[in-house]
Amino acid sequence: MVFVYSVGNIIKNKEIQDYINANLNTDLHAQLLKKSPFPDVSMQEIVQQIKGKQTAQKKFPFLLKEGIVFPPQLNLEQASSEKTAVYKSQILKGKKFVDLTSGFGIDAYYLSQNFDEVTLVEQNQELLGIVEHNWNVLGRKAKFINQNLEDFLQINKEYFNIIYLDPARRDQNKNKVFLLEDLSPDILQIRKKLLETADQVIIKLSPLIDLKYLISVLPCIFRIEIIAVKNDVKEVVIFLSTEENEGITVNCINLESGESEFTFTFGEEETSLAVYSEPEKFIYIPNHAVLKAGIFNLISERLGLKKLHSNTHLYTSDQKISDFPGRVFEMEVIESKQIKKKEQFNIIAKNYPLKPEDIKKKYAIKDGGKDYLIFTQSKKGKIILKSV
Ligand SMILES: C[S@@+](CC[C@H](N)C(=O)[O-])C[C@H]1O[C@@H](n2cnc3c(N)ncnc32)[C@H](O)[C@@H]1O
Repeated sequence: MVFVYSVGNIIKNKEIQDYINANLNTDLHAQLLKKSPFPDVSMQEIVQQIKGKQTAQKKFPFLLKEGIVFPPQLNLEQASSEKTAVYKSQILKGKKFVDLTSGFGIDAYYLSQNFDEVTLVEQNQELLGIVEHNWNVLGRKAKFINQNLEDFLQINKEYFNIIYLDPARRDQNKNKVFLLEDLSPDILQIRKKLLETADQVIIKLSPLIDLKYLISVLPCIFRIEIIAVKNDVKEVVIFLSTEENEGITVNCINLESGESEFTFTFGEEETSLAVYSEPEKFIYIPNHAVLKAGIFNLISERLGLKKLHSNTHLYTSDQKISDFPGRVFEMEVIESKQIKKKEQFNIIAKNYPLKPEDIKKKYAIKDGGKDYLIFTQSKKGKIILKSV
């Protein structure tokens, strides 16, 4: 595939590469206003490569190699991170893999590494050209198909082990969208065709998507992964298959936290009962992947922990448990008058009328340090907990 613009010049020209590397820490808005020192390459194209390298440092460091080309910012933003892609790749293995929404190819690069034949489909010709170039640099082989995936599915005669999709979540005005029917492609329209074409279909969705809604519109889901990185939920990934499955397995994971995974069967929450108690010695705060799953009673029942209040998703016990999917503190209940002005605390507010900012102002607390205050409600009413 031929590059549509002068990226070819950029990667082959050492002087331009040196210029890019020398300006990796410059302000890109100011840089854009400068005149390009190179007659064949615009400053916009140079800034695109600087922005790409800056993004790669944080999001996909495996691409910090000589000869790698970066696409425009929107494609960088839409790409998955190396961390979540590596996690998703762990359980995948087979003969034929296709990514129908290749984008910048980060997911495809990792998810397809244990497959014999790899196909990437992408409607954006320039973007796919960049991916093909990069995969050559990285020594990875694939079939690169520049086509609308709906057309590809119509004419395709191959059967795949895995079809992967990461639908674009922007509408024509570049606003973010979340419902399935607003994504590109519309999964509900192509669902039947997808399931006829592969053993399994894996789809990455927004962390904001509602799980009950998903299951109601896609009855062939057999597994859901809720993936957080450092307690920030990044992806909800669903697995579809036409094979008979016993229930839907949901796995909540918080990468880079050292916390345990939590796996359950969808529907378990409805039959679980929470036990309630006033705070005991240990206080547990579930991570955001678990909170996203909405399994507030199941956490209490399965882990033998007591909940503070039906609307307070904090748990407590006298004996510390080791495999909690979240943070654990040893705490005591204190009176508000025990908080001294200018003392330093990390403030957490859960099911409490004031936000941490307001609490800091009200009690003249300094932010940070190693101690914690939790402002919350138990069944008896408002309480303050202090780490010991
Ligand atoms: C969110 S990005 C994929 C990012 C990718 N998973 C990665 O890690 O780099 C979605 C991509 O799907 C492509 N796309 C959306 N609708 C498509 C369609 N109907 N046919 C082919 N490609 C499509 C978009 O052009 C975009 O590049």
